[in-house]
Amino acid sequence: MEYSQKVLDYFMNPRNMGKIDDPDAVATEGSPACGDQVTIYLKVNPESQTIEDIKFQSYGCASNIATASIITELAKGKTLEEGKKIDWEDAASALDGLPPIKMHCSVLAVDTLRSAITNYEVTHKLAERPEFSKETIVEELGRILYPKVGKSIIDLKMVKYVGWHDGVATVDLDVPKFDEYRDNIAEEIREHLGRYPEIKEINITI
Ligand code: FES
Repeated sequence: MEYSQKVLDYFMNPRNMGKIDDPDAVATEGSPACGDQVTIYLKVNPESQTIEDIKFQSYGCASNIATASIITELAKGKTLEEGKKIDWEDAASALDGLPPIKMHCSVLAVDTLRSAITNYEVTHKLAERPEFSKETIVEELGRILYPKVGKSIIDLKMVKYVGWHDGVATVDLDVPKFDEYRDNIAEEIREHLGRYPEIKEINITI
């Protein structure tokens, strides 16, 4: 697997690695695809609502460490609103690209940053935790990447239909029978959606 020089640099010399002892917000997220984890700590200026300090701890692969590290650099000094807009493609391109099969590592880093910002906003009564809805399912599916090209299965139009009724999530997929990642995609959907206690049953048609 080919890594850019920048990925190798951020892996070998990670910036902002460690813990903030009295953080204003913390979040830990894990990737169902590989079991890796990232924790992000924030210090926020309450007047300007800017991220004054940010650190991360990673329990995962080289791309996990590199993307979490670059995310801290992208977010530092930004307002909370700007921080929420950093997406996984920003992280990957700031590292001069990631191999497609490793793109999910940048999704994990971005999700963790967003969770930390949400935690700050909820505990400081700046926002309410979003209600669970069909949109939550669609958003979660948008975080699942097709490993061959490293793009979201939603953007690739592999999801034909999403249903949500009475605790049952239904997902109809359009993935060719001969696709080597077919079972892998279905498995990832089960793992991602299985994290939501609101979902009691998952039906996938493929
Ligand atoms: Fe798990 Fe990279 S392979 S985060």
